[in-house]
Amino acid sequence: MDLDWKNLGFKIIKTDFNVRSVFKDGKWGDLEVSSEEYFPIHIGATCLHYGQESFEGLKAFTGADGQIRLFRHGENAKRMIRSARGILMAEVPEELFMDAVEKVILLNKKYVPPYGTGASLYIRPLLIGTGPEVGVRPAKEYTFLVFVMPVGPYFKAGFKPVEMLIVRDHDRAAPLGTGHLKVGGNYAASMSSIAEAHKKGFATSMYLDAREKKYIDECGPANFFGIKNNTFITPKSPSILPSITNQSLQVIARNMGMKVEIRPVPVEELAEFEEVGACGTAAVITPFSKVVDEEKDISYSFGDPQTPGPVTTRLYETLVGIQNGDLEDSFGWTKILD
Ligand code: PLP
Ligand code: COI
Repeated sequence: MDLDWKNLGFKIIKTDFNVRSVFKDGKWGDLEVSSEEYFPIHIGATCLHYGQESFEGLKAFTGADGQIRLFRHGENAKRMIRSARGILMAEVPEELFMDAVEKVILLNKKYVPPYGTGASLYIRPLLIGTGPEVGVRPAKEYTFLVFVMPVGPYFKAGFKPVEMLIVRDHDRAAPLGTGHLKVGGNYAASMSSIAEAHKKGFATSMYLDAREKKYIDECGPANFFGIKNNTFITPKSPSILPSITNQSLQVIARNMGMKVEIRPVPVEELAEFEEVGACGTAAVITPFSKVVDEEKDISYSFGDPQTPGPVTTRLYETLVGIQNGDLEDSFGWTKILD
């Protein structure tokens, strides 16, 4: 495959195949393989009108041994079930989800970036209400599909510190809303504030809790973490997406002898952290060199703007090492596909 693996960025690249299954008459149909990027949809489909949709994001990697490793796809399957329950869609059984993901990777094997390029294969499962309804009620028909593309880092710089903008005039999710689910509406709600942050030169926006604007919530498409006193600290909030990367880092941090705290994180605590960053499948670990709270006229700075902090670097190297097989997968997180 002739691709510039080291400069892929994070964007749609056409690959050869996607896989699909349709839920109709109360049951899921067989997985079908397609090479079409489009599919016809009823103009009254609930995904188009009422946002009945959920997506996932996960990655596969090539190791030094040439084998393809898939990271924790069972966790994504479970999360998509929670999202489906949350907005009353048909649930994709874990086994169907995992089969579909494995199949689509093997069908597009030549697009899994080679070892050492820093790139990976991004897998995007999607569940949408395809049955038509004009009243606000759940569809009777759904389509589950999975497509893939090779990607580089989500934030242009890769594993380099970025600057974040705290948003106070906008919420991504309501306290009792859908922020904890991976549903499209949350991302629609975040677009204008993310665009605003980009316009001002920041990597993305940092949201505070919608009720009191006192605590750190989400960081664009990723969770927040802070490091101080040998402790990994990450927000507890009903409106953030439970990140599989974050959960993995908590295990790694404990394994490194660190403490882990999951609790509300007051925004002023930024002044006390030694290192801070965001974590997620696309973002991997993205360290912050600066967080700006424009409205309060405060700016928090962290370490050398060019170099990630030592703890963040160890966490990153351990996570990525397990993902690409350089380190032993002692937690049983990866599945080798052949
Ligand atoms: N938060 C949001 C809003 C996200 O979109 C994502 C990406 O999936 C995450 C956090 C990170 O979750 P994960 O580590 O499971 O990819
Ligand atoms: C992911 O990290 O997989 C995500 O879903 C983030 C995406 C919204 C770009």
